[in-house]
Amino acid sequence: MAKAPIRIGVVGCGSISVRGILPHLAVPDVQDRVRIEAVCDPVAGRAEAAAERFGAERAFLDIDDLLAHGNVDAVSIATPIGLHYEHGKKALAAGKHIHFNKTMTTTVAEATDLIETARRKGLKIVASPGQVLRPNVRRIKELVADGTLGTLCWAAVGSTFGTYHEDESVRQGSDVLSNIDPSWYYRKPGGGPLYDMTVYGLHTLTTILGPAKRVTSFSGTRLKEREFRGQMVPCDADDNTLMILDYGDSLFALVYGVASGRMPVRLGEGSFFGTKGTIIGSEMNGEAIDYPGRAELAAFPQANPTWLLPHVVGDHRGMQEAHVFEDVMQLVDWVRDDVPTPVTAEQARHVVDIIESAYRSSETGQAQILTTTF
Ligand SMILES: NC(=O)c1ccc[n+]([C@@H]2O[C@H](COP(=O)([O-])OP(=O)(O)OC[C@H]3O[C@@H](n4cnc5c(N)ncnc54)[C@H](O)[C@@H]3O)[C@@H](O)[C@H]2O)c1
Repeated sequence: MAKAPIRIGVVGCGSISVRGILPHLAVPDVQDRVRIEAVCDPVAGRAEAAAERFGAERAFLDIDDLLAHGNVDAVSIATPIGLHYEHGKKALAAGKHIHFNKTMTTTVAEATDLIETARRKGLKIVASPGQVLRPNVRRIKELVADGTLGTLCWAAVGSTFGTYHEDESVRQGSDVLSNIDPSWYYRKPGGGPLYDMTVYGLHTLTTILGPAKRVTSFSGTRLKEREFRGQMVPCDADDNTLMILDYGDSLFALVYGVASGRMPVRLGEGSFFGTKGTIIGSEMNGEAIDYPGRAELAAFPQANPTWLLPHVVGDHRGMQEAHVFEDVMQLVDWVRDDVPTPVTAEQARHVVDIIESAYRSSETGQAQILTTTF
């Protein structure tokens, strides 16, 4: 007998949900595997509007009602990062599998609680971003491991906040699905470029080099307010952080999450410097790095590397945020078909450890020992 589709609830109908998760999950090609069963959001009318646009059966104002009455097997948590732990805890208590949009939590203790609760209850957690799935990242891991770069001396990853969130299309309009307020991105807990953007580079770095051992950092808030639609928004989340990771044996990595300025690589890409060669973004010693699928991509001028993710086929290739859809499908396949995923909550917890420890290092002036691994 054919297996039933996974019934999913989407918690939070903001930018990533209306631009990415919901449009992808509404495409006909996945309906035999996953259905958008319910959505929730506390902004009046937003969940109903999202349900109507993307075909969800039920809409709620809060997560408790979604979990109790939404008829779902799993949830994708797409709320502000400072709420992820509370929402994850509730979802596990209700017996639901979870996809976390990055970043999973803001503390290691929270991540450990969720991982252990899920294990005890036989529930599954997939935590974005699944940089480990990317063929270019896997290829760089091989090039570093097989000595092609000689002795690796240091690496660098990071990202800039800029005005990305103020400028997103779904924040410029006047209806509930297009007037989404980004203010939480600038406030503690959960705001700032490390949790939202540097997390991609940290997943790439830890996929390639594995877990780090120590971190030291300087961090603070460079912009005390930002303008959004003519209003000044007060900012207290750190927006300017430089950290150094210690990998042992004098191998170091520079990691940044800054208010402006960036190295010339794409989000999630890194630089790796060895005695016999240098990788910067997608190039090694100035030449494009070859990896499985790259030649096929070259035939399509509009192609981007997300096309090489296993579920990003057909209509999904022309849609925004395909990598987030891929991570949701990793959970769907794991729950439905028992296909284990390499996108693990343990790696996400190690990245949380790096960020939490970097903030602690900046406050105390002391290097911090990382306690987690994966
Ligand atoms: N915006 C992006 O480009 C992007 C891309 C990938 C991943 N993400 C991640 O997705 C998550 C959400 O980001 P976003 O940009 O969509 O944020 P957003 O501010 O656009 O949307 C968040 C939504 O959550 C709702 N919300 C607030 N409190 C809630 C609660 N208690 N219960 C249910 N809903 C609640 C808000 O009303 C809002 O509609 C974050 O973890 C972010 O890092 C964002």
